[in-house]
Amino acid sequence: MSSSILVTGGAGFIGSNFVLGWLKHCPGNVVTFDILSYAGNLGNLESIDADPRHFFIRADINDEETVRKAIQQHQPSAIVHFAAESHVDRSILGPAEFIRTNIQGTFTLLQQALEYWRSLPEDRRSDFRFLHVSTDEVYGSLGPEDAAFSETTAYSPNSPYAASKAAADHLVRAYSHTYGLPTLTTNCSNNYGPYQFPEKLIPLVILNALKGESLPIYGDGRNVRDWLYVKDHCAAIRTVLAKGVVGETYNIGGCTERQNIQVVELVCDILDRLKPKSSGSYKSQIVFVKDRLGHDRRYAVNCTKIKEQLGWQPEESFESGMQKTVEWYLTNQEWVRRVQSGEYLTWIEKQYGAQQAHAADRQ
Ligand code: NAD
Ligand code: DAU
Repeated sequence: MSSSILVTGGAGFIGSNFVLGWLKHCPGNVVTFDILSYAGNLGNLESIDADPRHFFIRADINDEETVRKAIQQHQPSAIVHFAAESHVDRSILGPAEFIRTNIQGTFTLLQQALEYWRSLPEDRRSDFRFLHVSTDEVYGSLGPEDAAFSETTAYSPNSPYAASKAAADHLVRAYSHTYGLPTLTTNCSNNYGPYQFPEKLIPLVILNALKGESLPIYGDGRNVRDWLYVKDHCAAIRTVLAKGVVGETYNIGGCTERQNIQVVELVCDILDRLKPKSSGSYKSQIVFVKDRLGHDRRYAVNCTKIKEQLGWQPEESFESGMQKTVEWYLTNQEWVRRVQSGEYLTWIEKQYGAQQAHAADRQ
């Protein structure tokens, strides 16, 4: 049997970039395990439709039986866990789904991973890894002069999303410490790049700008995020899987702190060059709107550990990554159209049927 990895949430933004990158850079099969929520999109994986190394299972990580069956059938050497509810604003409006997927779902997955890992012969047991993809938001909010988050910064999550990810991180830690499950955790800063669902700041601003709509900036626009191009994040995860020390956590970031207003202005500058309006700049569409509740002021990530111990560093600067990202959205208008019209959701229902969520396996 060829080697496999199982990727939860592999049809989402970062997960799909990871699956595509893995098939390009690494040997073995990839099993994408994804419920295809509003944020999951098989269109992200269209380019590997005919790849015999890729398998897709449409299911919920809370569905113990299907998780067990998928693991038993594919015998993965690693589980890379992206599946989550990921949007802070949605967690403020409706936290329940974040608790169910991010906490309960992670627990279900850990429990199944543990049973499987215990059943493996010694050589495969020592090779197995459970890599949990987490966020810098677990550390809370920094003041302007505070040092960047390191792996030893105390957890201080502020939104229901951040709290649910923090809880999941603690469960992963407990499974490593108590049962010896070989886990790795990564805490990454804000990603941007191809296939990001247009509810998040950067794709929202690109697409609203092109439609002539307003570019909404929360509060005074001076909140700071540390931006990382998604393919650099995926390379970091491959590095941690290959070289990370079991039980450890690794912070990942772009060392690119920007205020939201600077991010939006850069998008406008790039669009002004690539797709100029008949008159004026896209900046004229910027509007300041009501702030997010409990809005974290600043995130910044210290990635000295992964750089020095594992030899990873980002390839893209913020400017080069943003140029690629804006170009991607301009040249992938059909993807944009399908996501915005919800047509891909209709297609999924037609293809699989709502009541057959678990029968979609191509196993
Ligand atoms: P996303 O919302 O784009 O994708 C999430 C994916 O998980 C979707 O494909 C969705 O269908 C799937 N999913 C949701 N609930 C599921 C369930 N119950 N069972 C199976 N699949 C389910 O998210 P993203 O931005 O790609 O983030 C991926 C991971 O990376 C998340 O764990 C997130 O917390 C973390 N992260 C994201 C960022 C970022 O900037 N986007 C930064 C750091 C960490
Ligand atoms: O830091 C990592 C986190 O980054 C990930 O864990 C999350 O999954 C991911 O969604 C992201 O969270 P943010 O809340 O930082 O990302 P978002 O794109 O929603 O917002 C970025 C900043 O822009 C934030 O300060 C809020 C602001 N914003 C956002 C939107 C959607 C606006 O000003 N206007 C908007 O319309």
